[in-house]
Amino acid sequence: MKIIGTGSALPEKIVTNDMLAGFLETSDSWITTRTGIQTRRLLSKETLSELAITAALAALDSSGVAPSEIDYLICSNVANSYVTPSMSSIILGPLGCCCPCTDLNGACAGFIYALDIADAFIKTGRAKNILIVAAEEPSRFCNWHERETSVLFADGAGAVVVTEGDGFRDFRVTADTHTDVLYYKRAMEQTPYDRVDERTQPLVMQGREVFKLAVRACIKDVDIILQKNGLSGDDIDMYLLHQANLRIIDSIREHLGQQKDKFPTNLQKYGNTSSASIPILMDEMSRAGLLKNGMRLLLSAFGGGFVTGAAILDWSEIKYPEVSSDN
Ligand code: UT7
Repeated sequence: MKIIGTGSALPEKIVTNDMLAGFLETSDSWITTRTGIQTRRLLSKETLSELAITAALAALDSSGVAPSEIDYLICSNVANSYVTPSMSSIILGPLGCCCPCTDLNGACAGFIYALDIADAFIKTGRAKNILIVAAEEPSRFCNWHERETSVLFADGAGAVVVTEGDGFRDFRVTADTHTDVLYYKRAMEQTPYDRVDERTQPLVMQGREVFKLAVRACIKDVDIILQKNGLSGDDIDMYLLHQANLRIIDSIREHLGQQKDKFPTNLQKYGNTSSASIPILMDEMSRAGLLKNGMRLLLSAFGGGFVTGAAILDWSEIKYPEVSSDN
């Protein structure tokens, strides 16, 4: 499997750390030094499905694959205002796709889970062209009176088109039950037989615990996938890691003994957009011409569950359509 198109979309609304300090007991210096985040984009006028469609259309456009030629649509999405139908069902029609579709919830590792599943579908001949859209609005899980979580999360969508090819070398996806460290619960309707008084519980996160689990798990994934493929950290040209916290990325980089320029980041601008963070970064880098033919990339992400995913691929450059000056 190889990636032949990328796209991304972000909300218009830019929210700075100082804006948050206007109503939360926090500061620009705390958020910047503890996380690296300076601004984030939050949904205000747009809907998440609109962002997902914009990102998907950009990915389709750059791939040269028509919506009618997509054999499967996979959305990585933790939650949106609809529980059913799925995000993939909602965007399928507007995109002009006519194929099976499904959502998966792999938390912040969902994009790598989706790539892994797409790879299996393509290898077994079940599909040739697959559209993957990671669209997330974790800002809507947070209690905006609590500084612990609301300063971290943000909204966005990233998409790729994948097809048959020899770009991907290997995947490693893992899961382990740690429900208490990171969760968001939504109240369900009562029945005559089950009158549990459930309330929606905004995102609960044991930050320090998640930090340690994330660093430990990502280092393990990266070490194992490199070793399995007979590679060392030096053999990777770029590490595209989940954009959650600069200190987490730095801990992984220091373990591997690699230079900063191999670990591109955009969390400073966009915050933690959950599973959309890697495809947004990939799209930005690819469109900026920073991903060259034959570059070896390592992707790695972690998220609530606890789930993790890592992948190694060799990049093939994508030709993006010229943007018309009328736009
Ligand atoms: O996609 C996965 C999602 N989750 C993550 O990636 C989270 C991983 N964890 C982290 O990124 C970090 O643990 C945090 C950024 C969440 C927190 O940073 P930390 O360095 O681990 O801080 P801490 O939780 O140990 O808290 C240190 C202090 C505490 O005050 P006291 O007890 O020392 O007085 C907190 O109450 O910082 C306080 N604090 C804040 N202060 C200002 C916590 N959040 C804030 C805040 N502004 N937003």
